[in-house]
Amino acid sequence: MIKRCLFPAAGYGTRFLPATKAMPKEMLPVMAKPLIQYGVEEAVEAGMDIMAIITGRGKRAIEDHFDISYELEHQIKGSSKEHLLDDIRELINKCTFTYTRQIEMKGLGDAIYKGRVLIGNEPFAVLLADDLCTNTEGDGVLAQMVKVYEKYRCSIVAVQEVPMDQVNKYGVISGKEIDSGLYMVDTMVEKPEPEEAPSNLAIIGRYILTPDIFELIEQTEPGKGGEIQITDALMAQAKKGMVMAYKFKGRRFDCGSIDGFVEATNYFYEKSKEK
Ligand code: G1P
Repeated sequence: MIKRCLFPAAGYGTRFLPATKAMPKEMLPVMAKPLIQYGVEEAVEAGMDIMAIITGRGKRAIEDHFDISYELEHQIKGSSKEHLLDDIRELINKCTFTYTRQIEMKGLGDAIYKGRVLIGNEPFAVLLADDLCTNTEGDGVLAQMVKVYEKYRCSIVAVQEVPMDQVNKYGVISGKEIDSGLYMVDTMVEKPEPEEAPSNLAIIGRYILTPDIFELIEQTEPGKGGEIQITDALMAQAKKGMVMAYKFKGRRFDCGSIDGFVEATNYFYEKSKEK
């Protein structure tokens, strides 16, 4: 039912310079797979098949990744390496990839708004590839959220508890717990200082949004850091109707930081040894 997943991927990835000087941060690999491919796989697992990617200057490698590379494929055809392309070929066959560019960096809310032309008037998912999520116990995070959406039909943000001294890195929510791990949001603040934070439930990079969010983003004034924040638009949506926060099952690695990235690499490396 939710067919489209939006990937804001226009950011510079300054924390990974010089690696990201000429390469998109979304293409950084954990093991041999780029971050954005993990994201697309999670969206496909959740039943989505149209990937809407918001890119920017210097991001062409993402488009090339989700396309055939004739020379390379011809070269390795029939060799022992050919199977290494199986997963990406499967994704390319299953999905349609659409792109638009965010010309100026004006915040996550603005990046999502730029995706309006690729989404239209239907509910959609948003996945921030920096947040690498995995769940060995069952459904991936987006698939879990689709189930929540099917029941409540409103926007949903994924949350996780973080130490209080880290709340200023996230959008933070509070609300009434209406079911185990499911909150009806009443407050949402972008990157609050610990003393102003309504809780330690931090939003991580998975959203399901109903399309009325686009008009709310239009009405959203620049917030934290002078940028258009999706957190503020969602707060407006929560006030008008209903927004849910869902404490997901599984693990999340903050691959936007060196520490999280190394942790993810170690985790997936260990997992690969178990096989
Ligand atoms: C963005 C959002 C923030 C959210 C975070 C999740 O922040 O603005 O609300 O908690 O993603 O990763 P960013 O990390 O882009 O600064």
